[in-house]
Amino acid sequence: MLSDGENFSEQSGEALYANVCAACHMNHGEGAMGAGKYPALTQNQNLVVGDYPVYLVLHGHTGMPPIGHMMSDDQVAAVVNYVRTNFGNNYENEVTREDVADIR
Ligand code: HEC
Repeated sequence: MLSDGENFSEQSGEALYANVCAACHMNHGEGAMGAGKYPALTQNQNLVVGDYPVYLVLHGHTGMPPIGHMMSDDQVAAVVNYVRTNFGNNYENEVTREDVADIR
């Protein structure tokens, strides 16, 4: 885990997902059950409103770390848009860096 204030260098949503999110949510968003329960992001209707995943990435919830603290607004938007348009999700209303700044 990176220390506070240290930013990830990846910029694309795909690279951020692979390096940051896949550790828990797995490479194809399938999630995992084990020591913890990591919800699947595949065909996930909770992603229909983009503010929800933005909020979670920024603020965390139980086992989900507030990992967006270590990302720029652009990076948070990129990784959220990536999961919302992959893994069987097809939500076209992209979140913007301004949305991220408002929720941060
Ligand atoms: C350390 C493990 C971990 C990492 C890293 C992680 N998550 Fe999570 N995530 C979780 C857990 C655990 C939950 C369930 C939280 C809860 O119970 O509220 C979760 C929940 C979520 C949800 C809500 C799913 C739903 O159906 O409500 C989304 C969306 C999500 N994560 C996206 C991401 C994204 C995007 C990243 C990378 C930027 C990421 N997560 C990184 C562990 C992780």
